[in-house]
Amino acid sequence: MKNKIIAGNWKMNKTIAETKQLIGQLIPLVADTNNTVIICVPYTNLATAVELTKGTNIHVGAQNCHWKESGAYTGEIAPSMLVELGVEYVVLGHSERRTYFGETDNTVLLRTKAALSAGLKPIVCIGETLEERNNGQMEQVLSRQVKEGFKDVTVEELANVIVAYEPVWAIGTGVTATDEQANDAIAFVRSVFQEMYGKQAADQLYIQYGGSMNDKNAQGLLSMSHIDGGLIGGASLVAEKFAQVVKAHK
Ligand code: PGA
Repeated sequence: MKNKIIAGNWKMNKTIAETKQLIGQLIPLVADTNNTVIICVPYTNLATAVELTKGTNIHVGAQNCHWKESGAYTGEIAPSMLVELGVEYVVLGHSERRTYFGETDNTVLLRTKAALSAGLKPIVCIGETLEERNNGQMEQVLSRQVKEGFKDVTVEELANVIVAYEPVWAIGTGVTATDEQANDAIAFVRSVFQEMYGKQAADQLYIQYGGSMNDKNAQGLLSMSHIDGGLIGGASLVAEKFAQVVKAHK
C-alpha cells in the first residue's frame, strides 16, 4: 500500500514572519502522520522553511525553476540554486503558470528534466479547463499534456516524479471534482503513463488530486483507489486545515 503525499502550494502568499508562524503551528500538528508532508513556499521563504523544518517530517518545495544552470535569464531560478538551499521538491507546470506566464508542455518538459538532473523531485501539474471538459476533450488534453510533457523523461526518472491532476475549473473556485470524477480522470492519466512506461512504473507513480481540496472533502478523495495524495492551495495556508488534510487518510 502506498502512503499519501500531501503537498501545500502556498502560491504567492505569506511573508517571512507569517511563514515562521505557520510552520511553527504545523510542525506539532502533522508530526505523527505516516503520509508525506510537503510545503511549497515562495522563493523568499525557502531558506526560512528549510531551516525551521530541519529534523521534522515536513519537506520543502519551490513553485518553479528554470531549465538552464545559469545565465542571462532575468528573474529565473536554477534548479541547483534550490538544491543548494536544501529544497527537495518543485511544483512545475501549474495551470496558473500555463495560463498567466506562457508555460507550455514543452517548457514544462524542459523544467522537469532540469529539475530531475539537479536531484529535485518535480510535482508536475496537468489538468483540463471547464470548456475542454464540456467539449468532451478531457482525455485528449490530459493525454497530450502527459505525452508531450514527459516525452524525454526516462522510466528511471519517473520514479522521482509526482504528478498532480488539477482540473482548472476546480482550482481556487470552491468547486471540487467529485470523488469519482477525480478518480476516473486519474485512472485515465495513469493509463497514459502505462502506455508510455509500462504497468509497474504507472502503478508506482504517485498521482495527486488538486483543486479546492480541503479539510472537509479530503477524506473522500483520498479514499479513492487511484488518488495518491493532494496538492492543496487555499487550505494549506491555515495550519489546522492543512493538518486535517494530511491526517484525513490513515
Ligand atoms: P486550491 O489550489 O486548493 O486553492 O484550489 C490548488 C492548486 O492550485 O494547487
